[in-house]
Formats: sequence, structure tokens, C-alpha cells
Amino acid sequence: DKGNHRHFMLKEIYEQPTVVGQTLSSYIDPLNLRIVLQDLCFDPKTISRVTLIACGTSYYAAMVAKYWIEHYAHIPVDVDIASEFRYRAPVLSQGGLAVFISQSGETADTLAALRHCKQAGQTVAAIVNVPESTMAREADMVFPIHAGPEIGVASTKAFTCQLSVLAALAIGFGVLRKTIDRSLEATLVQALSEVPSRMAEVLHHDEKLRDIAADLANARDVLYLGRGTDYPIALEGALKLKEISYIHAEGYAAGELKHGPIALIDQAVPIVVIAPMGPLFEKTVSNMEEAIARGGKVILMSCKDGLKNHSDMAMASIELPQVHPMATPLLYALPVQLLAYHTAVHKGTDVDQPRNLAKSVTVE
Ligand code: F6R
Repeated sequence: DKGNHRHFMLKEIYEQPTVVGQTLSSYIDPLNLRIVLQDLCFDPKTISRVTLIACGTSYYAAMVAKYWIEHYAHIPVDVDIASEFRYRAPVLSQGGLAVFISQSGETADTLAALRHCKQAGQTVAAIVNVPESTMAREADMVFPIHAGPEIGVASTKAFTCQLSVLAALAIGFGVLRKTIDRSLEATLVQALSEVPSRMAEVLHHDEKLRDIAADLANARDVLYLGRGTDYPIALEGALKLKEISYIHAEGYAAGELKHGPIALIDQAVPIVVIAPMGPLFEKTVSNMEEAIARGGKVILMSCKDGLKNHSDMAMASIELPQVHPMATPLLYALPVQLLAYHTAVHKGTDVDQPRNLAKSVTVE
């Protein structure tokens, strides 16, 4: 049932404040500002390496988690696309933890990689939405994301719920490894617990995003730029746009712009810049200025302070709440989802059933 929404995708975008709240409630204790993890079948103090494996949007969640786990838990992390991992000769560390991220829990390549890692003696964990899925059954340990059924083929709420679980794991591992002290744990848990209400604020920009999308619908190519944990959000924004509006889009790490893609830039290529306030803000802005100097038309997503001196140079801007850097990928996922959604609606494509795509890819 789509409720009063025109598409499942829109309904699922709007569900995010609620479902992310539900997900977080099983991984954090908001009163005492602590992470609560179920009994783990491995000891985060002794794991030598974390290998994160997934496909598509779930892979972008893994990319975000690499930054978090390295930063907060000081564990080396590898991220891999399942279809690449399984046909390489990956060298796995003894005492490694392999984590498989999948909404469906059935994606063939991810499942094959899971079986490979299990056979190779890794501890295997699955972060899934479907609790009775094959991956959930075969993993040593399951971390459910509690997003509820996702009907739209393009993943939305599963992504932010995956990020919520991964954030809790990164903090939880850090606490157990003592790379995070009690006060940092409290700060981070507080930041996560505010995400649902901040997401609800972000959804108020729906109409403005719809207006921007009317322009975007005329583009042939769109670039998305971000740094750090917002680089995977640029990739996710580009994937969403490709999938449902069929407009060619590319996500780039903002610092890579001058190593090639800057050659593409002219007035006809809109550039979505994801630039929350934080340690990387100035760097991203300087990449944005390089693009604007070459005629690039920028759609800038930042917070009030970030937009203060920079919104004039952008063609359009979206003001998001100012939050802790750990919360930015969770929040900035929403405007890129909505931008893709409205662009597709504007073009008249089949949003919930994009051509050539299936919800669950059970062939290799
Ligand atoms: C993108 C999308 C796909 C899936 C991918 C993995 O919107 O939905 O890229 O993310 O097929 O699917 P799961 O997470 O079920 O393994």
C-alpha cells in the first residue's frame, strides 16, 4: 500500500525518519547515550581486519563504513564489490571479520562471496533487511536493519538503515577496543539519536528539490561530487539518478575532479556538490570553485554556515541541518534520493519498476 504517496519509492523515502529511528532503537540506548550490541560471536579487540562486501547501493553503505571503522575503531578495512571479490584471489587475514551487506540477503554474488569467506575461515556477519534470507541463515552472526519491506526497486530506506547499523557497529567496536572513550561514545550516540528528527527537517525541502529536478530533467549528464563519507553519497546520488531517470550521472571524489572529469564540465552539465560543514568543507568548496570557473552549474547541498559565503556562486542550493560529521551521510542521502525521484517523475519514467532492473539479483 502506497498510502497517500504516488510511488512506493516516495513512500519509502518518507518513511526514513521512522524506520531509522526503529533501527537505532535496537542498537543504541538513548538515555544513557551508549551503544548496545547483542552478544557478539567474535571479539572486536582481536579482529585483525574487517572485509566489507556488497553490491550496488549496499556497497556504497560499505564504503561509508570503511571511513567510520578506520576512524573510530582503528581496524584496517577492505571494501569490495562482491562480483570482483569472488573472482579474484583475495588474501584474507587470519582472525578477520567478513561483513556482507544486503537488503534482500539473496544477491547471488554477495552470497557466493559469503560462502567463500566462510570456507576460508573468516568470521562471517550479515547485515540484512530480510531476516529469513539465505545470507541471514548462513552467516555466523546477523545484524538486522529493521527497514521493513522495501518495494521500490531503487533502494532508499534500506540504505539509511544499513548506515545506521554500520555506524553503531563502528562506535561499538571502538568502545570495546578503547579507541573511543565514554565521552566520545556519548557524543556520537547523541548525534545518531538526533538523526530521525533531522531527517524529518530535510524532507521539508521536497518542494525545492522538485523545482531543481525540473531543470535537471533536461540534462544529458550530471556530476555528483563529495569527499570523505560524503563521497559514497555522491556515488549513490548518481546511481539513483541513472536507475530511475535514465540520465547519465557520475559520482566522483571531489579531489579527483582535476584528474580527468573536469574536462566534461560546461554549462550543460549540472554538478551536485555535497559539502556539509566539517573538516573537509573548504577542500570541497575549492573543487566546486574550479568547476564554476569552467562554467559549471552547481547545485550545492550544505548547512547554513556552509552556504553563507558560497550559495551565491551556485545555481541552486539546499540548506540541510548542521550535524555531527558522523550523521552527514545519513542526512545527505535524502536530498539525493528526492532529486532523483522528482527528476524521474518529471521525465515520466516508471519510478518503482525501472527498465531492465530487478529488486533482487539472484543470478550472477
Ligand atoms: C540500487 C539498488 C541495487 C541494490 C543491489 C544490492 O538502488 O537497489 O544496486 O542495492 O542490487 O542488492 P541487495 O542489497 O539486496 O544485496
